[in-house]
Amino acid sequence: MIKKYIPVITIDGPTASGKGTVAQLVASKLGFHYLDSGALYRLVTLSAINNNVQLDNELELVILIKKLNYNFLGKEVYLNGVNVTTLIRNEKVSNNASKIAKFKNIRKELFKIQVKFRKFPGLVADGRDMGTTVFPDAFLKIFLTADIKQRTKRRYKQLMQKGFSVSMSDLLINLIKRDIRDKTRNLSPLKCPEQAHLLNTSKMNINQVVNQILDWYKYKKN
Ligand code: C5P
Repeated sequence: MIKKYIPVITIDGPTASGKGTVAQLVASKLGFHYLDSGALYRLVTLSAINNNVQLDNELELVILIKKLNYNFLGKEVYLNGVNVTTLIRNEKVSNNASKIAKFKNIRKELFKIQVKFRKFPGLVADGRDMGTTVFPDAFLKIFLTADIKQRTKRRYKQLMQKGFSVSMSDLLINLIKRDIRDKTRNLSPLKCPEQAHLLNTSKMNINQVVNQILDWYKYKKN
């Protein structure tokens, strides 16, 4: 039997580059499935915190992933039946997620979960290594960037809307530290995949970014 190709659009980029919102909208416009790979790293982190597992204990973290009871329902994320959509976005989880992301066996386990999201009629996947490592044969690869000031402002707004109180200067420092960790780790570091469309969203609104990606997709398809 000939295996049919399932198209994937990968949207990678640093924290607060807007990739989550954009990826969800692109997926919904195309009727594709959606993978928020960062949420998986966040779920492992939250689960470790809840179970008193040390965040540098790679073996225990892998055991945790094998037992991870999670569910994505639309925009909502559940852990053991509890809605953790807001909780996984707090700064403690955010900062620690990028620390556990350096472990080889954690990435290996999460890779197995991520590839299963590839289903008909297609998938939009966002993260750091979607185009480089998880879906290297993706139909379309996008790399989103935005200047650090814009990203800090966006992240500040998101956190305030979710009821978290944070200072802009702390946020800026956290973003810079996470960028460094994500870009300099040995395994699947954050980088622009070959053949990706690079899009700086600093001066663009969400709709402009979504429409640009849909245009690239339609152009390539035809
Ligand atoms: O995208 P998000 O900010 O939710 O990701 C949280 C963290 O998970 C990132 O800072 C990164 O360290 C890690 N991550 C990763 N590879 C991915 C997605 C996220 O290493 N594909």
